Amino acid sequence: MSDAAKLSLDGKDFEYPVLSGTIGPDVVDIRKMYGQTGAFTYDPGFTSTASCRSEITYIDGDEGVLLHRGYPIGELAEKSNFMEVCHLLLNGELPTADELDAFTGTITRHTMVHEQLATFFRGFRRDAHPMAIMCGVVGALSAFYHDSTDVHDPVQRTIASHRLIAKMPTLAAMAYKYSLGQPFLYPDNSLSYTGNFLRMTFGVPAEPYVVNPVIERAMDRIFILHADHEQNASTSTVRLAGSSGANPFACIAAGIACLWGPAHGGANEAALNMLREIGTVDRIPEYIARAKDKNDPFRLMGFGHRVYKNYDPRATVMQQTVREVFAELKVNDPVFDVALQLEELALNDPYFVEKKLFPNVDFYSGVILSAIGFPTSMFTVLFALARTVGWVAQWNEMITDPDQKIGRPRQLYTGPTQREYVPADKR
Ligand code: ACO
Repeated sequence: MSDAAKLSLDGKDFEYPVLSGTIGPDVVDIRKMYGQTGAFTYDPGFTSTASCRSEITYIDGDEGVLLHRGYPIGELAEKSNFMEVCHLLLNGELPTADELDAFTGTITRHTMVHEQLATFFRGFRRDAHPMAIMCGVVGALSAFYHDSTDVHDPVQRTIASHRLIAKMPTLAAMAYKYSLGQPFLYPDNSLSYTGNFLRMTFGVPAEPYVVNPVIERAMDRIFILHADHEQNASTSTVRLAGSSGANPFACIAAGIACLWGPAHGGANEAALNMLREIGTVDRIPEYIARAKDKNDPFRLMGFGHRVYKNYDPRATVMQQTVREVFAELKVNDPVFDVALQLEELALNDPYFVEKKLFPNVDFYSGVILSAIGFPTSMFTVLFALARTVGWVAQWNEMITDPDQKIGRPRQLYTGPTQREYVPADKR
């Protein structure tokens, strides 16, 4: 591509530099455009806008490629583990054996939460959605850990990052236990990050809990698959919240709020509900027809993606993980057959082919999580737990970026022009 982009506006010509990354599309640097032309660009939904530079995650949606710090997601899911991936995302490199020990040790020592936080939980209704609880308690961490809220201090930023990664499993498990009316379990730091989470979620204080290594591995892999996804809606929310200098706990709470929506993290819950509603393979054509009908708001949940116009590489790993979990737990849930058949029919249907709609990570994740024993209301919580490392890595990158400014988009104003106030009795 050329090194300058030309723009003609009101009979005048302007040139803007074209910047290249290490891989991926070039970007036109329009930072000076408003000052020079008096015009803004218009891009609702950021479909053509790079909001930042980043070295963390790369996606090629056309080819179905996802790289974390250069490593393909499939390879990380197969050969790595979540702690290693956390180190990679946060620090840029896979850890040596000693570095991994030190990192895991640090995270492990931060797994407990302030005892007063348990009281905070008890203020919620028992039937509160666990995501509502997570928005509240993660935001509340800033009221408990005052010594790691100074965003200008790199040591405090690191401690806050470790705290968030370490405490999310404890908080997520507490949200679940609260809904059941069961006692909270303290972390057991002799277990792995993921094993500890499974025990705090499914264990009870009255009995020993034995972690099933197949489920532990499957869960760890699900965490890897959700760890980061470049500038998605919730990550951009974290960056935007952080751009004002807000503390990291508040920023991650903002990310959790954004993730909750059904077009984002809430889609796995919606996908499983849809598969259960379909119920049997003979009803699939009816639902495919509804998804294609412009007069019907129904969409195939777990299908389609803003960036992937090819098979989401995370969905491939998910499908394999369903098989492993089902074999281990001897589950024979017809919902998996519905999912496989639905995928096959949709991938051979011209509507989905032409619009490049493929299964995304959420299509199979709900099927696995349900088999492991999680209620649908916990699905997005698990996503938030895993994505915390990505949010935190992106937040740190944003704070240390010399180009960083408060995020402040402009608008195309279409409301009334200035008019005179009319008193109530004259309207
Ligand atoms: N079922 C049926 N049709 C679909 C679907 C679907 N799942 N997804 C997109 N389409 C159609 C749209 O109707 C539209 O058709 P048109 O061009 O004739 O109007 C076209 O495909 C493009 O869709 P958009 O909504 O414009 O694409 P966008 O990039 O804005 O949306 C999104 C992406 C939100 C993921 C969408 O595909 C969707 O709603 N999918 C279902 C929800 C889902 O699975 N979300 C999870 C995303 S992954 C994640 O957050 C981890």
